[in-house]
Amino acid sequence: MTTGRATASAPSNIALIKYWGARDLERVLPSNRSLSMTLERCRSTTTVCFDEDHPGADEVWLVDDHGQSRPASAAFAERAVQHLERLRRWADRRGRLRVATRNSFPSAAGIASSASGFAALTLATVRALGREAETHQLSLLARASGSGSASRSLEGGFVEWPGPAAPEDDPWAEQILPSDHWPLHDLVAIVETGPKAVSSLDGHRACHSSPHFARRLTELPRRLEEVRRGLRERDIERLGPVIEEEAIELHLIAMSSRPAIFYWTPATLEVLAAVRNLRHDAGLPVYATMDAGANVHVLCPPGHDEEADARLEALPGVRNVLRDHCGSGPRFNQDHLL
Ligand code: PMV
Repeated sequence: MTTGRATASAPSNIALIKYWGARDLERVLPSNRSLSMTLERCRSTTTVCFDEDHPGADEVWLVDDHGQSRPASAAFAERAVQHLERLRRWADRRGRLRVATRNSFPSAAGIASSASGFAALTLATVRALGREAETHQLSLLARASGSGSASRSLEGGFVEWPGPAAPEDDPWAEQILPSDHWPLHDLVAIVETGPKAVSSLDGHRACHSSPHFARRLTELPRRLEEVRRGLRERDIERLGPVIEEEAIELHLIAMSSRPAIFYWTPATLEVLAAVRNLRHDAGLPVYATMDAGANVHVLCPPGHDEEADARLEALPGVRNVLRDHCGSGPRFNQDHLL
């Protein structure tokens, strides 16, 4: 009788150059290269138990902030079980898998948890099935979940997908700079706590219909090079304007897709205006980026986070601020949830 149990904790990440649009969405082949910063505190912790002799169906549980477990919603469980099947096939094993997962950030905070969730699920399942894999292989397996951004959560620091050495037709993500190169802060101004109305999957489907999509692709090589250089030189004045331009363009494309997708709320604009004022009036080196949602990630170099946090918390439209920073990537631990 073979059994296995493993617990992995994987971080979320914030894209500085966004993955938005795929040349093959089925195979998760992106239209462009993306670059993200791995976070430290926003994490998913996932325990997977494997029982080779158990004929029963897989189970997926969510663990809340008080340690209470409940069955995952049908939609979430379906996506997770599909991924378990994929990993079981890859490992060439049979038997039941049970999963329990918990997010370190408030579950309804509107922070994309698919990147951290599928990275942690991939790591814990591979180990529970008694297999080992190189980081690039784990990145490919996480990407197969359908969440391209999950492929970037297997590494710490600053990560590109496809990585510099990855093949075009089966791209994995690679670290380009470690977290201690420049421990940037990410203050996530939470303005919306409900789930977003349109999934990023539907955004990837619709974006090709925007008249701005093709032009964006021609801009990206220059923008990506500026971001790489800003990071290498730890130059926030070079990095900041480019990541704001990039985030606004993602939303421009979403809003001009057919059907149009609006992720912003009035509070999003309030935070964006405040970030500009903090730069111009208070002289703070803060710059904003957003994923496919209403919340605003405010990036700043070490030493400015306390003041930026206090100013953001004081905005009427901001419910709270999650304080995070560039982190060192996933790890295994013994805090088993099952
Ligand atoms: O990984 P997905 O399919 O959830 O898409 C991620 C989309 C963005 O978060 C908006 C951008 C990114 O690169 O993370």
